[in-house]
Amino acid sequence: MGFDVAADAYDRFMGRYSVGLAAQLADLAGVTGGQRALDVGCGPGALTRELVARLGPGDVAAADPSEPFVAAARSRNPGVDVRLASAEQLPFGDDEFDAVLAQLVVHFMADPVAGLREMARVARPGGAVAACVWDHAGGQGPLGVFWESVHALDAVVRDESGLAGAREGHLLELFAAAGLRETEQTVIAARVEHPSFEEWWEPFTLGVGPAGAYVAGLGPDDRDRLREQCRARLPAPPFTVTARAWAVRGRA
Ligand SMILES: C[S@@+](CC[C@H](N)C(=O)[O-])C[C@H]1O[C@@H](n2cnc3c(N)ncnc32)[C@H](O)[C@@H]1O
Repeated sequence: MGFDVAADAYDRFMGRYSVGLAAQLADLAGVTGGQRALDVGCGPGALTRELVARLGPGDVAAADPSEPFVAAARSRNPGVDVRLASAEQLPFGDDEFDAVLAQLVVHFMADPVAGLREMARVARPGGAVAACVWDHAGGQGPLGVFWESVHALDAVVRDESGLAGAREGHLLELFAAAGLRETEQTVIAARVEHPSFEEWWEPFTLGVGPAGAYVAGLGPDDRDRLREQCRARLPAPPFTVTARAWAVRGRA
């Protein structure tokens, strides 16, 4: 899936956008001092850091199935209990957390309903479960220009728009299927300024996530063609990308 990569590559490709969502998702979940929280699919730890700032490392736990990301999340957040695990099988007991969050993860779960059900299991009764997924279906995530450009060159390539939670209302449906109550959907967004086209493009060549895996599979000529398609669709630099995500909070 493109997550067995160095944390630094992730930071440059997707972390630059995901970091801007962390405080908004934590606010949506109502994370505040005195609570215990779990970051599911923590990656190198963009949201983990926000939780630590609010709660302290002893009251934050995190989990991710990618070994390099777990190593990075541990070294960046000393004192946090970071486990190598998937959402579908969380190595935590029932009712352990006041808030359980998954930032940009549900669309990568092998079984999103099972993953959300596990998140609800480890949350205390009435505790918050919150998740967000980029609006890939609406083309409003950070990869809209990239996938549009791919389709201009190859109409049959499957992009990320069909993934779980990537269209309006779908995350709500998944929360309901997982038995979560009092669900609420909102939109959160990250704004990132790109000083040059090269600074925007180069991280796509690092093999991160489905987009990075797609670029890695292209020969040099096709990669050049795709790069120039992207350049033609973007504004003159510097330009700002505003990336929107569907976010849902429910109660266990
Ligand atoms: C786009 S990254 C998000 C990372 C981090 N939450 C952030 O906001 O930067 C997706 C993450 O989901 C993780 N992941 C993939 N499948 C998963 C699963 N079934 N359960 C939990 N995490 C998963 C990946 O290893 C990766 O770290």
